Amino acid sequence: MKQFFSVADVPDLSDMLAEALALKRAPFAYEHLGKRKTLGLVFLNPSLRTRLSTQKAALQLGMDVMVMNMDKDGWALETRDGVAMNGNTVEHIREAAAVMGQYCDVLGIRSFPKLADRDEDYSEDLFRKFTKHCGVPVVSLESATRHPLQSFADLITIHEHWQRTQKPKVVLAWAPHVKALPQAVPNSFSEWMCRAQAEGIVDFTIAHPEGYALAEMFTKGAATINSLDEALVGADFVYVKNWSSYDNYGQILPVQGEWMLDNQKLAVTNSAKVMHCLPVRRDLELASEVLDGPQSLVIQEAGNRVWAAQAVLKRMLEGN
Ligand code: CP
Repeated sequence: MKQFFSVADVPDLSDMLAEALALKRAPFAYEHLGKRKTLGLVFLNPSLRTRLSTQKAALQLGMDVMVMNMDKDGWALETRDGVAMNGNTVEHIREAAAVMGQYCDVLGIRSFPKLADRDEDYSEDLFRKFTKHCGVPVVSLESATRHPLQSFADLITIHEHWQRTQKPKVVLAWAPHVKALPQAVPNSFSEWMCRAQAEGIVDFTIAHPEGYALAEMFTKGAATINSLDEALVGADFVYVKNWSSYDNYGQILPVQGEWMLDNQKLAVTNSAKVMHCLPVRRDLELASEVLDGPQSLVIQEAGNRVWAAQAVLKRMLEGN
C-alpha cells in the first residue's frame, strides 16, 4: 500500500478488517516489520486520538516515530505553484515534503479544510502535493474531505459489536454544533459504509436536516432522510456527527426540529449502539445520558483507532 487516503485504497475490505482484528489479538506479532523504519506524523491541526493511536500502532510494529507540529513549530507552508513567495509563507510544500521524505519511511499528514472555497478544499491540493513530493507512502491523518483511519476504526467497531447473520441498520445522524465543522468525517464514514453496504455488510441511512446533504460522490447507495426520528426506527448503530453545509459551503443553516440524540430519541431504535469520532460537545451534539450510558461505544471506537492504523502501517511496511 502506497497511500491511505480513502476506502478506494483498500482493494479487499473484509481482508483488511480481518487483519486489523488479528492485530488486536496479537499486537506485537509483526514488531520486526518496522525495525529501523521511521514514521513521520505531520500535523497542521490539533489532534488527540489520531496522534496517540497512530504512534502506538507504529511502536507496536517496531517503528520509530517523529512528530512535527507544523502549525506551531514549522515554517509557514506555501502550497501554490508559480507564485513569488513575497508574503507570509516561508517554505514551499515541494521542499518541505521532499525533505521529510528523506527522514521517514512512511509519512502521515493531517490538514483540515479552510471551509472558505469548496473547490479548493475538495481538490485536496495539499494532500496530493504532499504525497507527490515526499516520495514515500503516505497515510491521511484527516484531510480536507476524508478521515479514513477514523472510518476504518468505525467499521471495526461495528463489526465487533454485531455478531449476527442479518445486516445491521447503520444511521449517520447529523447533530447540532455552534461551530462550522468540516464534512471530512461524515463524508468518509458514508464512503466506507456505502462500500460496506455494497459488499452486503450493512444497511446504511443518512439523516440530516434540509440543506445538509453531503456531496453525492460520498453517498452513492445510501438512503437519505430529513427526519432523525424516522431514521432512528429500528437502527442498530447510530453514528452521531455534526457537519457544516456542503451546498451553502461551510455555513451553519437554520434547522427545524430537535437533532440532539438523547435517551428518549434512542428508545425507537433496536437498542442501538451509539458512536461518535470524538471530540464531542456534551449536551450540544450528544446528550450526556447517552454518552455515559450502556449503549455508548465512543471509547471502544477510539480504542480501535490503534488497530486501524496498525493494519494500514503494516501493509505499507510490507509494500502490499
Ligand atoms: N477522532 C479524531 O480524529 O480525534 P482527534 O482529532 O483528536 O485526532
